[in-house]
Amino acid sequence: MTAEALATEQPDNVDMGELAPYAGGPRLTDAESRHGAVSLTWADGTRADFPLMWLRDHCACAQCRHPRTRERLVRIIDLPETLPEPAVTLTASGALHLEWPAMSGFNVHESLFDAGWLYQRADAYRADPLDVDRKIPWTSAIADALPVADHHAFMHTEAGLCDWLQALDRYGFALLRNGPTEPGEVIRVAERVGWPRETNFGRHFDVVSMPDPNNAAYTAVALEPHVDLPNWQRPPDFQLLYCLANEAEGGESTLTDGLAVAWALRDRDPDAYRILTETRIDFRFQDENADIHYRGPVIGCDDNGNPSVLRFNNWIRDTLRLPAAEVDGFYRAYRRFWGMLRDPAWTLRFMLRPGEMIAFDNLRVLHGRDTFDPNTGHRHLQGTYLDRDLIRSRQRVLERATA
Ligand code: OGA
Ligand code: ZN
Ligand code: ZN
Repeated sequence: MTAEALATEQPDNVDMGELAPYAGGPRLTDAESRHGAVSLTWADGTRADFPLMWLRDHCACAQCRHPRTRERLVRIIDLPETLPEPAVTLTASGALHLEWPAMSGFNVHESLFDAGWLYQRADAYRADPLDVDRKIPWTSAIADALPVADHHAFMHTEAGLCDWLQALDRYGFALLRNGPTEPGEVIRVAERVGWPRETNFGRHFDVVSMPDPNNAAYTAVALEPHVDLPNWQRPPDFQLLYCLANEAEGGESTLTDGLAVAWALRDRDPDAYRILTETRIDFRFQDENADIHYRGPVIGCDDNGNPSVLRFNNWIRDTLRLPAAEVDGFYRAYRRFWGMLRDPAWTLRFMLRPGEMIAFDNLRVLHGRDTFDPNTGHRHLQGTYLDRDLIRSRQRVLERATA
């Protein structure tokens, strides 16, 4: 059955129990029930087939979705496995109206769907609609247009915070400038976004050259590009490094878009890429109080087989336990990737100044530093970690106001 659109004016919103904005898309022009789905067409030509069970499962009426918590109440397990066809109409205001016939133990049920809400989910079967990939790969050329925000705007305005979070999302790193040089500021910055994630290095950690270090970062040696804590099953998602003093000679910082490099490796050396995605190796941190170990691939992939999580940290790599026949191949692949990661063409270099902070996606963007000479001046960074869920949540809530 076909329903012609009656609406000519901007449609009224249907409350879908959804706080992210969904109004303002094109109106629905056609809706038709066929082959276990409702086929929808919007004024811009977009078409999508929403399966009947999906539609019944996403009914937003007060019986199906809790009006206050906005959480799902409808339980599809109570419904027949194959649903009867609903009567399909478009309302005068352009919403999709479905009338489900009575079925085993259930009365007739009406569902109303906002056209814009459905439009946002037209490709819901391919990807998580909340997290469409907004990553922008970059090379050393990003030095000309650094994602940077002012510390004051970040701390005191929602727009400043939102811009910074969006940059972090796209580029996998963002800078803050013109902040104070009081110890502990890194925690105040982290708390502006969420709750710092504690590790065996504490709620925050002090990066200074110390006489009895338990970690390469607490010396003055150069740090090759790396991710922090790949020896954890769940390494920290994001890292903040706040500069309090940087008077020593040397100690320049580096950042590399490791995922962009992984994509390039896949093109240039598919065999090395395959080895690094398929071979699980050991990572381990040990000191007097901890022994934290994880075995995983250097390049982890998502469900689509694309690189998504990097575990590259040469000093935290443990004994290589591989069948003898795989060892040479692994080292060759590892050296190839490492060589690309430290290639100046991929590397952003800069000097962190007191009152500046760098934040980065620890699983995507690798960080490093040059060696420095602690006898020429004081160098002191403070760091902490944040979870992706909190960062993305903060961004989504702020984006409600700007969309
Ligand atoms: C770290 C680190 C970089 C620096 O602490 O994890 O990599 O510039 N520090 O000291
Ligand atoms: Zn309902
Ligand atoms: Zn580090």
